[in-house]
Amino acid sequence: MVQAKSWVLVKHFDGFPKSSDFELRVEDLPEPKDGEVLLEAVFLSVDPYMRPFSAFRMQEGDVMIGTQVAKVIQSKNPTFPMGSHVVSRCGWRTHSLSNGTDLIPVMPDWPQDVSLSLALGTVGMPGLTALYGIEEVLGLKKGETLLVNAAAGAVGSVVGQIAKIKGCKVVGSAGSDAKVAYLKELGFDEAFNYKTVGSLEEALKKGSPGGYDCFFENVGGAFSSVALNQMKDFGRIAVCGAISTYNDSNPQTGPYPHFIMIVKQLKMEGFMQTRWEHKHPESLKRLMGWLKEGKLKSREHVTKGFENMPAAFMGLLQGDNIGKAVVAV
Ligand SMILES: NC(=O)c1ccc[n+]([C@@H]2O[C@H](COP(=O)([O-])OP(=O)(O)OC[C@H]3O[C@@H](n4cnc5c(N)ncnc54)[C@H](OP(=O)(O)O)[C@@H]3O)[C@@H](O)[C@H]2O)c1
Repeated sequence: MVQAKSWVLVKHFDGFPKSSDFELRVEDLPEPKDGEVLLEAVFLSVDPYMRPFSAFRMQEGDVMIGTQVAKVIQSKNPTFPMGSHVVSRCGWRTHSLSNGTDLIPVMPDWPQDVSLSLALGTVGMPGLTALYGIEEVLGLKKGETLLVNAAAGAVGSVVGQIAKIKGCKVVGSAGSDAKVAYLKELGFDEAFNYKTVGSLEEALKKGSPGGYDCFFENVGGAFSSVALNQMKDFGRIAVCGAISTYNDSNPQTGPYPHFIMIVKQLKMEGFMQTRWEHKHPESLKRLMGWLKEGKLKSREHVTKGFENMPAAFMGLLQGDNIGKAVVAV
């Protein structure tokens, strides 16, 4: 018998999440049955999607959705031996039982000197998102100029670095001077703090006077309206996220993109990384390869303690993180 803790959404978010929207629950878990494993969370991910997805994927009383790296601490399933690590979508729980169908083993040859937490970040879902956005959606080509916002975050930081690997010019925006310094460290050609630049239009023009071939969109809202005007004709936009709208109780309205899309003949495509699930194993190997070669650097914002999950999540939504936000149990 093991005591399992979980964080439950007791009240649907209204505007920015509050501590009182969450409740910590404790339950006793039975021994695993034949075919089952007992998992113990090691690292848990907090991600922006949890905010909008909670509204239509969850009911009040449900355990918060989410992914974790967990250790198999008891096993009655030979596919997942005791002591092995898996990526599990079991949500905000310290312990869980699984029959294995929803588990992904961590890459078999995961290097000793790479933290397993990266399976939730650069060599996990956010890294895959960056890769597919660039290759499958934008079809980014050598010599092109790419703009990415929320650039110092989990997805954005990988986007910029992959674009550099591909021989492109990269311009990034982020919400603090420390983040801008980090982008320079990563090799971004231009970076600016969108909160202090006075005019976003001028900052984008300065970043690339000739405009942008590609825009990896993480933020949406007002930023997007300004950025579309700085695209080159036939520019391509990968709509990955719209974090500036996730906490809105009332949807933001215009300016609407249609006219600028017509006159500049832009191509805009929304995507979810799950579309290319069949490519994940090969793509994770490529991301790990770049990491080991030093072409991809990775930083994490680690919050200690399962009891701090809500605080870590709210911190992410207000931009506390440089790199991937994770919780270490
Ligand atoms: N389509 C997919 O399959 C997929 C998969 C993963 C993620 N995403 C999306 O990709 C985006 C980035 O996700 P991530 O996991 O890499 O998160 P992240 O960038 O590590 O963290 C979120 C960042 O968003 C920025 N932000 C927060 N509120 C903002 C606002 N009102 N305006 C502008 N920026 C704001 C903050 O950075 P600043 O300090 O720079 O503001 C914050 O650090 C999100 O929109 C997410 O939903 C999509």
